[in-house]
Amino acid sequence: MSTTYFDKTAARPATANPLGVKGIDHIEFIVDRADQWRDFFLEKYGMAARFYADESTGVRGRRAHVVGQGRINFILAEPQGNGPEADFLRWHLDRHGCGVRDVAFRVKSAAHALDEAARRGARVTRPLDEHEQFIGGTIAAYGDTVHTFIERKPHTDFAPGYRPVPGGCEDGDINFAMIDHVVANVEHMEPWVKYYEEIFGFDLFMHFDINTGRSALMSKVVSSTDGWVKMPINEPSSANSQIQEFLDRYNGPGVQHIALLTPDIVSTVAEMRRMGQEFLEVPDTYYDAEFDRRVGEIEEDKELLKRLRILVDRDEGDDGYLLQLFTKCVFARPTLFFEVIQRRGRARGFGEGNFRALFEAIEREQARRGTL
Ligand SMILES: [Fe+2]
Repeated sequence: MSTTYFDKTAARPATANPLGVKGIDHIEFIVDRADQWRDFFLEKYGMAARFYADESTGVRGRRAHVVGQGRINFILAEPQGNGPEADFLRWHLDRHGCGVRDVAFRVKSAAHALDEAARRGARVTRPLDEHEQFIGGTIAAYGDTVHTFIERKPHTDFAPGYRPVPGGCEDGDINFAMIDHVVANVEHMEPWVKYYEEIFGFDLFMHFDINTGRSALMSKVVSSTDGWVKMPINEPSSANSQIQEFLDRYNGPGVQHIALLTPDIVSTVAEMRRMGQEFLEVPDTYYDAEFDRRVGEIEEDKELLKRLRILVDRDEGDDGYLLQLFTKCVFARPTLFFEVIQRRGRARGFGEGNFRALFEAIEREQARRGTL
């Protein structure tokens, strides 16, 4: 494995945020059953139902719930009735299964973001939609994924036709604050790194190359200059790569995983497990002497981490460490999963050391069983 960081501590040009991106506004999923997936995020991810839309609230072609916690908002939309919107949602479901359609950004001015993105070569898929308190417009990204630019006035509803849902409690043991990063799987990463550099003004933040023998991938992380938006872009570098499997099953590029930032991974993972969320299996051997050597001193109780099967990765250059765990794929097709992540110190990595550590732990486990 090799990792390269690109440090850009030098003063950035005034054009560093040409689209005026402030952060991720929401992520839109197109799903088969909106009610079922709302309940899934309420029960297993500690989210609250926030808004609802359908024909009766003035939105044609879809039934949609908005669920969220902290600064995270997910739209869960299913097709309803007939017409172009319903047809499109059905087409998307048929082609990709359940998955992410839109990674939407909050911007200072939607009109400016859309014009400037188009001027820089983006393809506009939905022109500016102007309402009194909400303005949005959309550009194409990798595969059938899009980016909508959203400008909101303070204290407004989520979007036109979305009604607030009363109640909803976010005070549980599952604690999420915001989206840490959104990962794309594409056939070739270079054009998409360029896309975010040239259209969004994002910086190349790091590059890593992983070959565990079982799965090979290359990843480049692009990031907004303020660091609030981080988007790793993966490409497969072997035919048996998990990235290639995603591309085959999703029918093209798309969002592979969404990392949710928590201030307390121990209580969050413990409660998600109790509520039935399944996670990647981690062998006992991950926590042997090699774990102590690699991770060193940490604040958490290592026995507790082992019991909950939480992974730890110390940054190169020792800026801190991160704790993370990956869910199993959540939809019927083995495509999208979530990551629970907590960062300690100034940890800025993505857990790339865990790819190798996990692979080697599996090998040690196999050796112990005598199957290797
Ligand atoms: Fe990740």
